[in-house]
Amino acid sequence: MKKIQMVDLRSQYLEIKPEIDRKIQEVIDSCAFINGPAVRTFQQDLEKYLNVKHVIPCANGTDALQVSMMALGLQPGDEIITVSFTFIATVEVIALLGLTPVFTDVDPDTFNIDPGAIERAITQKTKAIVPVHLFGQIAPMEEIMEIAGKHHLYVIEDACQAIGADYYFADGSSRKAGTIGQIGCTSFFPSKNLGCYGDGGAIFTNDDKIAEQLRIIVNHGMAVRYYHDRIGVNSRLDSIQAAILGVKLSHLDEYAQKRREAADFYDRAFSGHPNLKIPGRYAKSNHVFHQYTLVLNNTDRKGFQDYLASKDIPAMIYYPVPLHLQKAFKDSLYKCGDLPVTEALANSVISLPMHTELDAEQLNYITKSVLEFVNR
Ligand SMILES: Cc1ncc(COP(=O)(O)O)c(C=O)c1O
Repeated sequence: MKKIQMVDLRSQYLEIKPEIDRKIQEVIDSCAFINGPAVRTFQQDLEKYLNVKHVIPCANGTDALQVSMMALGLQPGDEIITVSFTFIATVEVIALLGLTPVFTDVDPDTFNIDPGAIERAITQKTKAIVPVHLFGQIAPMEEIMEIAGKHHLYVIEDACQAIGADYYFADGSSRKAGTIGQIGCTSFFPSKNLGCYGDGGAIFTNDDKIAEQLRIIVNHGMAVRYYHDRIGVNSRLDSIQAAILGVKLSHLDEYAQKRREAADFYDRAFSGHPNLKIPGRYAKSNHVFHQYTLVLNNTDRKGFQDYLASKDIPAMIYYPVPLHLQKAFKDSLYKCGDLPVTEALANSVISLPMHTELDAEQLNYITKSVLEFVNR
């Protein structure tokens, strides 16, 4: 059996090696390493794939979030409603810009932001909502957009883990993750569903004015070379990464399907087991399974993880400490007990290997090993 990994980037690369190598060589031959044609081509291909008016490539998902908040003119003291059960980048940039993160609890089945909790958290100072489409599933955007509309709030989607996922609205229309709010952000970190071979990110919007600001900010605040209209940052996707992403974008739907098939396999094996709660799926979106995350009941998580490790099966805890209880946020007003669902999840979740190259032999071995431990 092939060695089991959380993410098998090497096997994925080998499947597309000739095309990837050729595209990388083309960039090297052109020496157009920064803002070369490969970046423009990928940007346009992604706009078409997402059916969004503007894609602004940038250096990583964290920058995408920061630049988005800068473009919307959010000011120190403004409150931004988001979740504590996420990767730190979502909230790090809120804090870095002097904005105030307001943490809300999540749904215990899907791990995503709870629209009811958003409504309860809104104050006079609230300016934006940042839903995170955690583990590859789009948060309940129809409800979120309705709340935002009612209270005149911006919505910035953290779609770093959910590129390619579709959301289906009640009227029968659908949109891609990151193209529903005013702005959407994604990451092309290597292990992401659309990952490059280094760092990368992108920002999406259908709003021309916001797009103009985003483009200026990622480029040192300049629209015309050496004329700086505002304080910006240096955040670029380089041409080699764009060329790689262009190849991988053409496989993205097939990759999502492979992830879903692996998730279905896990679901069939674990569904209904008293100690294992499978990840909940919304009827309104199609999960792209960046992670496959179980909630353990009455099970020693460390013992479970160690048992799997003894069988050469990696398993990871995303995320062991909610952000409101991290040292970095010790000066915030939050304390243990404030977000009971988030805190319970942080103590009981575990993610199994999930990627595009898992085969039936590996999936059989993983599910058999998981059941061996919980049935002891
Ligand atoms: C939910 C979420 N937000 C933001 C980021 C930041 O992306 P990056 O690592 O590209 O800066 C990540 C990924 O690492 C993420 O998973």
